[in-house]
Amino acid sequence: MKVCMVGTGYIGLVSGACFAEIGHEVVCVDNDTQKINMLNKGEIPIFEPGLGEMVKKNVRAGRLSFTTDIRKGIEQSLFIFIAVGTPPKASGEADLSGIEHVATEIGTAMVEYRIIVEKSTVPVLTGRRLRTMIEKSCTRDIEFDVASNPEFLREGAAVNEFLCPDRIVLGVESKKAEQRLLELYKPINAPKIVTDIASAELIKLTSNAFLSTKISFINAVSVLCEKTGADIVKVAEGMGMDKRIGRAFLNAGVGYGGSCFPKDLKAFISMSSELGYDFRLLKEVERINEDQMLRVVKKAEESLQYLRGRTIGILGLAFKPNTDDMRDAPSITVIKALQKAGAVVKAYDPAAIERAKKMMKGIDYCRDLYETADGVDAIILVTEWDEFKQMDLERVRRTMRKPVFIDGRNVFEPKKMKDLGFIYCGIGR
Ligand code: UDX
Repeated sequence: MKVCMVGTGYIGLVSGACFAEIGHEVVCVDNDTQKINMLNKGEIPIFEPGLGEMVKKNVRAGRLSFTTDIRKGIEQSLFIFIAVGTPPKASGEADLSGIEHVATEIGTAMVEYRIIVEKSTVPVLTGRRLRTMIEKSCTRDIEFDVASNPEFLREGAAVNEFLCPDRIVLGVESKKAEQRLLELYKPINAPKIVTDIASAELIKLTSNAFLSTKISFINAVSVLCEKTGADIVKVAEGMGMDKRIGRAFLNAGVGYGGSCFPKDLKAFISMSSELGYDFRLLKEVERINEDQMLRVVKKAEESLQYLRGRTIGILGLAFKPNTDDMRDAPSITVIKALQKAGAVVKAYDPAAIERAKKMMKGIDYCRDLYETADGVDAIILVTEWDEFKQMDLERVRRTMRKPVFIDGRNVFEPKKMKDLGFIYCGIGR
């Protein structure tokens, strides 16, 4: 089947490549000429395991192409997926101008039946707005369907999650769109849930909000663990054994970041308020997350008495391992707080240094973790890369000026670290 994917960000590029991989003919569109030129040369603008090879393979097979010409995509494809960015405005509300622009282009270029599918995360009822916008710009009376097919993929595992998802959500307004979308997804063996459009939009928003809530919940409990001598890892394990709760997303740490949770939660709170509901529970989820990032800075300060003039080594800058994504990364908040307190910051990340350099100045960016540890008064581990899990701890301990190790992701066992001579602080242990 023929697919046009508008927007070649994380979601658009991964979804486009994966649709080609399962046999469809896909044209990916973006108005960023530089990006399209890169993609046409086989260069991938994002760090995503497995994506580069998949793109090259499908381009060679003639199933995947890239263009800046949206009209071409609209003319030749039955499905037009919209995967453009919906960045937050100052109020937290999602900015839908990108979607509006695409809707106008579709309305003007469409000459026969098309299924226009929301792939970006959008506020509930955007589907309805999309229909009105397309109708307004349509000069002829053409039948079309709007649908919602939210994406749940996680950075770093996106390809696999697209091809083997927990579920596929299809929000539709007609039987025709339902049948076509089911056919499009036929090669993917996963449960498919068909709903109305608003429910599909809400499934995406509430899934992210609920996962953020799980993380803030366990982070709040970690404070109680520290006050009582309980171990958050054991508490999470015991809670997680209850099938109704589940162990996933109960890892206490420096808080959640990334391109989705912080932004989507803000947009969800703002959307709820517009609909007349003050979602205080989620406001508290946000507040706990902000506090959590600063708790590791407090721990460093408590262990060192003061931070002014101290050198702190940050291990991990990306918002999570296996990505170079720095969007809303907890490392930014941690580093800003350290610099504000007068500390000197050294930092290393296996993938995100170049991006970090563009965002944060005044940091001594290091080539590896050992260079980072050399001569520091404390280490704060912010991102749990495998490379850090396997570090030579004795070597690290020997080169540090003071052996303070703040483990913001509970990577190491407290007893082992103490036996090695570290002044060790995990989260909630
Ligand atoms: C998330 C959702 O998981 C995905 O379904 C949605 O499509 C996009 O947003 P992503 O942002 O790629 O995906 O990362 P994810 O692996 O979910 O982690 C988000 C943040 O939560 C990271 O900063 C991570 O470190 C943090 N996290 C996750 C925790 O602090 N504890 C946990 O137990 C799990």
